[in-house]
Formats: sequence, C-alpha cells, structure tokens
Amino acid sequence: MARPSRTRCIGILTSGGDCPGLNAAIRGVVKPAISEFGMKVIGIYDGFRGLVENRFIHVENAMVSGILTHGGTILGTSRDKPHKMPMGGKIMDMTAVAVQNAKRLGIECLVCLGGGGTAKNALHLFREGGLNVLTLPKTIDNDVAETDVTFGYDTALTIATEAIDRLHTTATSHHRMIVVEIMGHNAGWLTLGAGLAGGADVVLIPEIPYDLEAVAHHLVDRRQSGKRFSIIAVAEGARSRLEAAAAAARAEQEKAERAKKKDKKAGNATKNHTKTTEPDPVPVETGETVHTVEEPMASRLARQIQQVTGFEVRLTSLGHVQRGGIPTAPDRLLCTRLGTKAAALLAEGVYNVMVGVRGGACVPVPLEKVAGHFKYIPPDHPWVESARLVGTCLGDIQTD
Ligand code: F6P
Repeated sequence: MARPSRTRCIGILTSGGDCPGLNAAIRGVVKPAISEFGMKVIGIYDGFRGLVENRFIHVENAMVSGILTHGGTILGTSRDKPHKMPMGGKIMDMTAVAVQNAKRLGIECLVCLGGGGTAKNALHLFREGGLNVLTLPKTIDNDVAETDVTFGYDTALTIATEAIDRLHTTATSHHRMIVVEIMGHNAGWLTLGAGLAGGADVVLIPEIPYDLEAVAHHLVDRRQSGKRFSIIAVAEGARSRLEAAAAAARAEQEKAERAKKKDKKAGNATKNHTKTTEPDPVPVETGETVHTVEEPMASRLARQIQQVTGFEVRLTSLGHVQRGGIPTAPDRLLCTRLGTKAAALLAEGVYNVMVGVRGGACVPVPLEKVAGHFKYIPPDHPWVESARLVGTCLGDIQTD
C-alpha cells in the first residue's frame, strides 16, 4: 500500500554538465516516488531541450535498478536553457512550450538535477509559467549557493587528488615543475581541496587573483632550498591580478548595458498590452551557436612560468576525466539521501525549493536563494588558512 502523497506525477531531468552520482540521485528520487508514494514518474531526456522537444519516457522501477554505481546520466543532459534555446539556427525563448509540454504530461512538479544554472532555469519555469519545480545540487565545482556540498564533488576531488599524487612522483624523478589544471571556472573548491589533499606547492583559484612574480618567487625559493620539483595546481578560471581587474571592469559595463536594455524593454511593454495564451516561441537573438575549444589555462601558465623562472615545466589538464566514471561512496550516500529527501518533500507537496545539505542534514531551501547565486571560497575560509600554514603559495602577495 502506497503512503499518502500530495503529488501524483513528477517529471525528472538532468541538466548542465554531467557528474558522477547523477544516476544515484535519479534512483534516490524514483524508487521512493514510485514504490513508497505511488507517484507516476516521467523521465525527460537531455535536460530542458528534451522538455521542449517532448522527448520523455515513463519511468518504472526496473529502469533505475542497478544504476547506483554508474557514471553519467541515464536521461542524458544538455546545457540548454528554456528561454535561450538554439533552434534551427536561431536562439529562441521556448519557455511557454516547455511549460505546456510538462503540463500536458500531467507533471505537477519537475525535479531538476543540476547546478546553479539549472536552479535559475527551473525557477524561470515556475515564475514565467507556473510550473512547480524542485532541484538537487549537482556539480563537481561545489559552487551552488545554500548547500554545504554538491554531489559529484567528492568523486572529482578524489580523481584530482589522485592525479596530483601521480604527478608528484614523476615531477620528483625529473626535478620538474608540473602545472595541473583542475576544473572550476568560477570557484576554486576543487582545486583548493585537491591541492591541499595532494600537497600541491602552489594553488591558484579564481577567488584569489595571482601575481606571476609571487608564484615565480615561491618556485625559485623552493629550488634554492633544495626542493627541485614543484606541483602547481591551477583552476581553469584562475586569473592574474590584471585579468581580474579587467574582468571586473567588463562585468560592470555589461551590467550597465543589461540594465539599459531592461529599461527599454519595460518601456516597450507598457506601450504594448497584447497578451497571448498560446505557447509562442520567441526568437531572442539570431545567429548560430559557436562552440569554441579553448587553450587550457595550464598551457598559458606553464609557458609564463618557464619564461620567468627558466625551469623546465610540463602541464596536464585533467578536463572531463574529473566528471567521468563511478561515484565514490560518499557521493553515492549523498545522492541517495538527497534523492529520497526530495521524494519525501514531494509527497508533502513542498515545491520550488532546492534540497541542500546544512550541517549534515538534507533540508529544503527556497529556490530564489539559490538561483543566480554562487558559493565562492571566502578569503578567511579554514582551507585557505590551512593552505597558508602548510606553506602553500596561493599566488597573492602576503604583506604580514
Ligand atoms: O560541471 C561544471 C564544469 O565542470 C566546470 O568546472 C567546467 O568549466 C565546465 O563544467 C565544462 O563543461 P563542458 O565542457 O562539459 O561544457
């Protein structure tokens, strides 16, 4: 006999970059949703794109059986946003279509497994289309606001730490400097965590703009003290002080331009009162989407270090290796706890929240506190302090 549930039908999708643990989290939601609470579960393929394109599957327990340990996501994922979706060479606002498709399927709440961007997209569906949503915090970057930890992080941390361990032995043998690039465009949790756990000599993260001179000094000092190798762990989003200042100025300018555009749009909206009830895809921009392959941050830094110090430098960019393979036991545990908590909340009719981790407990957090916010490493974080105390160079100039 199923337990009472206020929700009878849910949709579930995975969105944004994949990570180990997604399948464990899907299983954590689906098993209790079906078996304990008698809900109908509809799996949406490839994130919000699948919702817009009406690609789905009726999920049964058998579909999630045996997936706890599998990497990737059985539902597929994409980085597409409902309101800015590349469709036939144009970028379209497909919000209304996405909402209509979900409602036509009888979905009372859409469960979205993803990071900060996914939370923003999910909240957009609720605000613009009244579709209830619930999110789970996924990303190897660990940068989702309002949760102590995200799933996928522990596995990536383990992979990156093992990589540093392996680089250590070869760097020592050859008396080399090795730069290792670790994922994290906005936040340095993975780089600092792996750097500390692996004993990297230099750790460069987006939150602490670095000074090439300070890094070079540290490396030269180490060599002069008899340590002939060094490991430099760098986040893909790490920036020099100059780059950080230029980026801040650009961000200010973009903010001003966005505000100007918004004002103009608001002015036009008051002039035009026509309302449509039909889902009407709206082009928001024209042009093809261009996917660029960027030079790894590590290669630029390795070149600069070699130029400044004259030491022999090698580089390794860990890239998507960090997102692949089986989840660690802590990630499996976390995914199962978050997923089952989500199912219990859905049964109570709790919507428009993210299930986050606070002090060891899985708790609902209002989605507006999560969407559009990042969790950065604060300058006084205990990991930063520990890194400094063990003599790790963080690339900044310490005055006292
Ligand atoms: O999942 C988040 C993340 O790992 C970032 O650290 C990284 O910048 C990004 O994904 C790369 O994603 P992709 O190349 O798959 O779009």
